[in-house]
Amino acid sequence: MRRKATSDVWWKNAVVYCLDVETFLDSDGDGWGDLVGLGERIDYLAGIGVTCVWLMPFYPSCQRDDGYDITDYYGVDPRLGTHGDLIEVIRGARDRGIRVIADLVPNHTSDRHPWFRSARTGRDSPYHDFYVWADEKPEEKPGDVVFPDQERSNWTYDSMARRWYLHRFYSHQPDLNVANPQVRDELAQVAGFWLEQGLSGFRLDAVPFLVEPTGMPRGAIPDPHELLRDMRSFMGRRNGESILLGEVNLPPDQAAGFFGERGGEQLDMVFSFPVNQALYLALARADARPLAAALDALPPIPEECQWAHFARNHDELSLDKLSDAERAEVFAAFGPDPDMQLYGRGLRRRLPGMLAGDERRLRLVYSLMFSLPGTPVLFYGEEIGMAENLAIEGRYAVRAPMQWSDEPNAGFTTAAEPGRPLLADGPLGYPEVNVARQRREPESLLNWMERLIRRRRECPEVGWGEWSLLEQDDPAVLAHRVDWEGSTVVAVHNLGDRAARARLALGASGVLVDQFGAQDAELEGELSLALEPYGHRWFRLRRPGQRIAP
Ligand code: NOJ
Repeated sequence: MRRKATSDVWWKNAVVYCLDVETFLDSDGDGWGDLVGLGERIDYLAGIGVTCVWLMPFYPSCQRDDGYDITDYYGVDPRLGTHGDLIEVIRGARDRGIRVIADLVPNHTSDRHPWFRSARTGRDSPYHDFYVWADEKPEEKPGDVVFPDQERSNWTYDSMARRWYLHRFYSHQPDLNVANPQVRDELAQVAGFWLEQGLSGFRLDAVPFLVEPTGMPRGAIPDPHELLRDMRSFMGRRNGESILLGEVNLPPDQAAGFFGERGGEQLDMVFSFPVNQALYLALARADARPLAAALDALPPIPEECQWAHFARNHDELSLDKLSDAERAEVFAAFGPDPDMQLYGRGLRRRLPGMLAGDERRLRLVYSLMFSLPGTPVLFYGEEIGMAENLAIEGRYAVRAPMQWSDEPNAGFTTAAEPGRPLLADGPLGYPEVNVARQRREPESLLNWMERLIRRRRECPEVGWGEWSLLEQDDPAVLAHRVDWEGSTVVAVHNLGDRAARARLALGASGVLVDQFGAQDAELEGELSLALEPYGHRWFRLRRPGQRIAP
């Protein structure tokens, strides 16, 4: 694939920024963020350089799962604004070169969705078969519920329908019966509607649950992946540049199965949960080897497809793919207090909380995450080092309002009470950690993050190239190279709190041109590079006679 393709296959060199409208900026003083508020901050997002905004669900919902319990797929939650406000956001973003994608939640609806209200009335309802029913409660595997704090089973008895219905998440989120062609048609129509409004694709929620035939008669879904193929080709017909970014928390081989054989067949991007989890084990141990192993385990994928890497997202930091002993190590390092842990598998913390605000370590993590072969995805507030607010219940602890300034309520709202409480105290509270302050400090995390984002955009090698790990003597060091179109980028990271040396044997000579500072290095055969504690360096190799970007 040539350089020209980087703008067609745009997601491979994108920098994605996830935000929830209701916690970003409140324009009308009701305590909740809204679309007009987001519109006012599009220039901020353009300024930091992100190229794709992922909006968490903005649809009308019962707000029992932060918008993932949808009551109208075609609507805009009136608390957030109107359709018109949303279109202004999409239009404003496009003007600044930012594409907008949004969550699409096809696995389930709210139990208040008109489809389910009708379905409950019995088998005669035209919507009854939109959901998955059973006359007797089906057998279940122990421990198979996603939210064990609130649910005991994936089946709930509905007294009106006098049948059991399937819900892989909360009991107020009945699963849609995606084996039903009518349901598939409806979901395609929903996707088509939003593409027509200007969205550039979707973050597809809960993909493995979506395609599993739980509770359905044997053979009901002969080919579970057909649903994704149909959705992908439908979207391609409607909008050739649209993408599907899938939430697939599965081991790498299984996750890769969701790309399909060729690009453009199923999902275009898949979040790499195993790499994310290995990253935390590596950080806890100050040993890069678990991360190196997770990267090595990534199977080859079609050229147009991409792994999406992230440090944190809006859910708990799930560590479910680690062994019990490994998870205990990460808990001990980053969330020893039971109140920081969730569902026995994860942490309800943001990264700065886990790293006690140590900026050297924060920068190390983001430098590393941005250098991994894939597309980086940020969660709002990461660019300033926002911490969690453990006073907020459950997973919402990481979803506090954005910290814009040291004004009351962080400049997020003029209401006396924000909809969700801000972190006000301590070294990571909003009076200390906020956008306004960091914009004025040339060396702030925010300004550094802007440079990182710019560099990542300027290094399409990272998103497109062939990558390989460089063997190291020191286990604290991860060094890798990416090669693309005759150009080589090298990234070196020291996960340890002591100085280290990296061994760089590239089988080439030239100058390693420092991408963040002025410390170039001559390379003749092999180089032993000194690294500070938590040091991180990116280089581009200038071979003799080669012209490289400044
Ligand atoms: C995954 C989402 O990330 C999570 O926040 C939500 O609760 C579940 N899907 C159910 O929709």
